[in-house]
Amino acid sequence: MVAIPDYEVYFRWVILSHLRLHQFKNHENSSFDFCDKINSISGPNGSGKTNILDAIYTLSNTKSYFNHIDQQLIQFGREEYSLKGLFHSSQFGSNLDLDFLLTLQNKKKSLKKNGKLYSRLLEHIGTIQTVFITPYDISLVFEGSEERRKFIDFTISQIDKNYLLALVDYRKYLDQRNAFLRNNFGRNIDSLVLESFDVKISPIADEIHKARKSFISEFAPLFDENYKFISESIEVPQIEYLSPLNNRTMLSVLEENRASDILSQRTALGVHKDDIEFMLNDQVLKKFGSQGQIKSFVIALKIAQYQYFKKNSQQNPILLLDDIFEKIDAQRSQKLMERMCSNEFGQIFISDTHSERIIEHFKPFDVAQKHFNLVK
Ligand SMILES: Nc1ncnc2c1ncn2[C@@H]1O[C@H](COP(=O)(O)OP(=O)(O)OP(=O)(O)O)[C@@H](O)[C@H]1O
Ligand SMILES: [Mg+2]
Repeated sequence: MVAIPDYEVYFRWVILSHLRLHQFKNHENSSFDFCDKINSISGPNGSGKTNILDAIYTLSNTKSYFNHIDQQLIQFGREEYSLKGLFHSSQFGSNLDLDFLLTLQNKKKSLKKNGKLYSRLLEHIGTIQTVFITPYDISLVFEGSEERRKFIDFTISQIDKNYLLALVDYRKYLDQRNAFLRNNFGRNIDSLVLESFDVKISPIADEIHKARKSFISEFAPLFDENYKFISESIEVPQIEYLSPLNNRTMLSVLEENRASDILSQRTALGVHKDDIEFMLNDQVLKKFGSQGQIKSFVIALKIAQYQYFKKNSQQNPILLLDDIFEKIDAQRSQKLMERMCSNEFGQIFISDTHSERIIEHFKPFDVAQKHFNLVK
């Protein structure tokens, strides 16, 4: 069993007590009153279990975990959707009610907190932290570096608003630099103009790199411990941060690549190309890992993400577990659920197609539990 760390006494509870989905994917009008620990959702394929978890994620992050186009979240044939959530937060005995209403109307997304409109959606990031474990997470291993950068960026951004703002600025200046390279292709490029972009981009890139490096050094030991817990093995997992900035500044990277960037009309190297390499016993996981090892690796990444949030924000994130029993064998999932039912974790939402299986899993534990059975 993983030891409960010292910071446990300080943390803040955040609990979703009520959720209403209106014209959100297949949910025309659905309302749920949740309990503060285990909320299990069962129902046949396509009944909308994952969509409920995604609604919680969307309300917390202003974006869906799965659909990158907001419009796709609106129920087919409708014009708008809304999600309403009532959260209770408590720390040191004082309670706070937070009422969030997220709407997409006339192609415009807006979010209200206790009736007051946010001026920028970005302000909401980090208020309600969620960790989502889904069958799609293996894309972290198999897809390109963008998925892994998204994982690190999402994780750091929940804790560090300045990091999120740095990412926005970096993207803005990078787009400007690339547009300049494209628009001046074949012409005599004014190196002073190009340098002026480089001078703007470089300090931001260095800041992003520093934050990622420090994140990996804090995250890696958490991940390591969790991999060993889940896989019950002595294999040695490793995550390594790959960046051209590991031994140079961004300014020198840009200077070095200036001629080739002009030819290719884009900025080839920088923190927008960073990656993390996943290894197991010194072998590349993607190429040599077994299915079970890869699944364990991904779950360990997510539980480490949970611990990272908790450690850095003294907040207990909401855990969303989609089809987790399909991913790991019965013995391992029992062990994992036992841990989930402990004080280490806060409120949990868990989906499964078999209602008996999910109820059986939690029966032995003396914690609050509520079961929801969806019909198609
Ligand atoms: N914009 C939308 N409008 C209406 N229905 C939608 C929309 N987007 C997705 N759906 C429907 O939602 C259903 C999928 O819901 P969801 O993924 O939550 O099911 P599930 O209960 O998790 O199923 P499974 O057990 O297969 O994982 C599909 O039938 C899909 O067609
Ligand atoms: Mg599903």
